[in-house]
Amino acid sequence: MTREVFEIRDQDGAGRIGELTVPRAGVTVETPALLPVVNPHVRTVEPARLESEFGAEILITNSYILYGSDDFREDALDQGLHDLLDFSGAIMTDSGSFQLAEYGEIDVTTAEILQFQHDVGSDIGTPVDIPTPPDAPREQAESELATTRERLAVAEDVDVGDMLVNAPVQGSTYADLRERAASDAYATSLDVFPVGAVVPLMNEYRYADMVDVVAAAKRGLGVDAPVHLFGAGHPMMFALAVAMGCDLFDSAAYALYARDDRYLTVRGTEHLEDLDYLPCSCPVCAEHTPDELRACEDRERERLLAEHNLHVTFEELRTVKQALRSGNLLELVENRARAHPAMLDGYRALCDHADQLELSDPTVKGSFFYLSGESAARPEVVRHHERLARLDPTGEVLLTEGNPSDNFDESWRVVPPFGPFPRALSETYPLTAETPERMDTRGYRAAARGVARLVAENRDCEFTLAHHAWPASALALVPDAVRVVDLSEEH
Ligand code: GUN
Ligand code: ZN
Repeated sequence: MTREVFEIRDQDGAGRIGELTVPRAGVTVETPALLPVVNPHVRTVEPARLESEFGAEILITNSYILYGSDDFREDALDQGLHDLLDFSGAIMTDSGSFQLAEYGEIDVTTAEILQFQHDVGSDIGTPVDIPTPPDAPREQAESELATTRERLAVAEDVDVGDMLVNAPVQGSTYADLRERAASDAYATSLDVFPVGAVVPLMNEYRYADMVDVVAAAKRGLGVDAPVHLFGAGHPMMFALAVAMGCDLFDSAAYALYARDDRYLTVRGTEHLEDLDYLPCSCPVCAEHTPDELRACEDRERERLLAEHNLHVTFEELRTVKQALRSGNLLELVENRARAHPAMLDGYRALCDHADQLELSDPTVKGSFFYLSGESAARPEVVRHHERLARLDPTGEVLLTEGNPSDNFDESWRVVPPFGPFPRALSETYPLTAETPERMDTRGYRAAARGVARLVAENRDCEFTLAHHAWPASALALVPDAVRVVDLSEEH
């Protein structure tokens, strides 16, 4: 199925810069995009300011709160959401599923709430999916998924005009269920594909599990499917989630955290109480000291912290987009992964899906910086090893970290972490990688696996590997048929 609402402009890893066309709002939204969550009752930061001062092109609010509110329901129906909230960008509405997950039941059906979302002028509506939590029993995950699937079918039949409709992907922490849920959702006529029920994973810092869940969902979706990571608003995981192929994020965190004096950074969350300095130059932090913030009365402090939280959140999204545009998103992910061991697990999980990322990763980019052992597992390395299986050396072949030699039919270079390649490819991406002089074991081992791959595909050749002091654990991966010379021992 081809979808007209989403166009990809640029890619890096599985990440992309795209354009989501939201016909009912008459706008296109550049992705990755952050949707600030606006609680119509609270409005920590006015929606008009989200647009003019923070650059929000789209926000999300909860239609179930409006539906159940004596104050707001009629106003929302009379004026429409855009007037009620004073926001002219795109507005997505959630359905009450989150309340369902929190409180066990809600008194509205998918047909009713979608109709209501349409009637209040929502631009992207949501059916009542069932957010099955992580680690739920498999039978529960399966039966709730079946219910969610029925509701997506109901949603297809509601006449919502040109409102787009979300098709949430559930399935708890079962990769096969997530993948099937995603391919079923993609087979509907619905438009946007949120990965649901990941909030508990993020609250518990289970970033590796989050990566596995997203990877499974992505396998079931076409590349032209816009993917929302439901409830993910902490800037520390944007780079990772974008690299996995998520396009939309919503943040309630900016407001919820501000309420109890929590200060967001790209490295994690700080408590205002613990801060001696404000490590940020947003307008709030430029104009206040931590003591001044602490001295503010509650409402004012909450608003100021929410503004800071929004500034860092939007800033990180711009940082991620620029990295993607420059072709160094994975370097940014690697960098962010150093902020917390759980983030490192998330990045390692992403590297475990390198072959999946490789499918969308551009073959030519600006630069490849080898920054840690994890870099040895990047999609570019996986792709080079695939390419080795197709290259065709003949006769006696020298694979060398030193000079070429006339004593062989061919002299190839060998460079960690990639392994061997013909000299003619030296100036092509990613073989132009910048690598440290003090290479680590994982880089050598990856190079050795490249040698093994080339040897396995070319049994009729005779290979000699001339290396500079590779560690024994890497040399152990080189097939016995290869003659091995340590150049550093020859002088
Ligand atoms: N908000 C956070 N998680 C979810 C989810 O799984 N489904 C819906 N509809 N909203 C959410
Ligand atoms: Zn700040």
